Amino acid sequence: MNPGRRPLVAGNWKMYHGGASGVGLAHECAGIARECAGIDVVVAPPATVLAACAHEAERSPLGIAGQNLYPKDVGAFTGEVSGPMLRDAGCAWVILGHSERRQYFAETDAFVAEKTTAALGAGLIPIVCVGETLEQREGGETLKVVERQVTAFLDIASQQLRGGGAPVAIAYEPVWAIGTGKTAGPAEAEEVHAFIRKLLHAKDPALADRTRVLYGGSVKPNNAEALLSAPNVDGFLIGGASLEAASFGAIARAAASLAAKAQA
Ligand code: PGA
Repeated sequence: MNPGRRPLVAGNWKMYHGGASGVGLAHECAGIARECAGIDVVVAPPATVLAACAHEAERSPLGIAGQNLYPKDVGAFTGEVSGPMLRDAGCAWVILGHSERRQYFAETDAFVAEKTTAALGAGLIPIVCVGETLEQREGGETLKVVERQVTAFLDIASQQLRGGGAPVAIAYEPVWAIGTGKTAGPAEAEEVHAFIRKLLHAKDPALADRTRVLYGGSVKPNNAEALLSAPNVDGFLIGGASLEAASFGAIARAAASLAAKAQA
């Protein structure tokens, strides 16, 4: 954590809580966001409940995110949801390039970049995910893979900032740590986060200063504080632990209390 950057804690519900349970969870998360005033709290429900969750979040600082978008505004694209539609549903954010989309839906770096442009065009703040697989890590390719993934949308992120827009967020999610209970330790996470910061700095120092680089991959209440002690970890993208208000709230409160201490 760095006192110059406001922490961002985002929950990725994936394909869970697509009905009434999601609306209830959004209601609880709105309470968590109110409590954690010094940080940004965001949840990404499935498309079926985005509007209902946005309604629950209305009088709270809770942000609502889509989990994906299709990079056209309207058209004959059966089953897809566009950026303007996410905005209409009450979203201010969108997760892009999650490893599950790269892996199961064959999303390429170029397509993720196209989606990043579309998201910004629709007035959404993208949380763009990057990260290496276990095979790539074991092959010593982690930084090379992350560099390729970040470079694909670096120009877009830089133009957005120069144009006075809200900075894009990046989530570093090592694929081997997602849903496996294996977390990158703070030092392991910091190595990649610092590398991403260096890439941003080489493009534009202001981009490095303002971009929040989140960690994701088996973040739980018992490892959140240690991960946030890494100077380049600016928050989290949380899967499993975001599916219950108790664990999501514990992580958000840990971030808010560290942020308050860092400001003092
Ligand atoms: P996890 O998922 O917290 O369940 O590991 C993280 C993610 O996929 O965003």
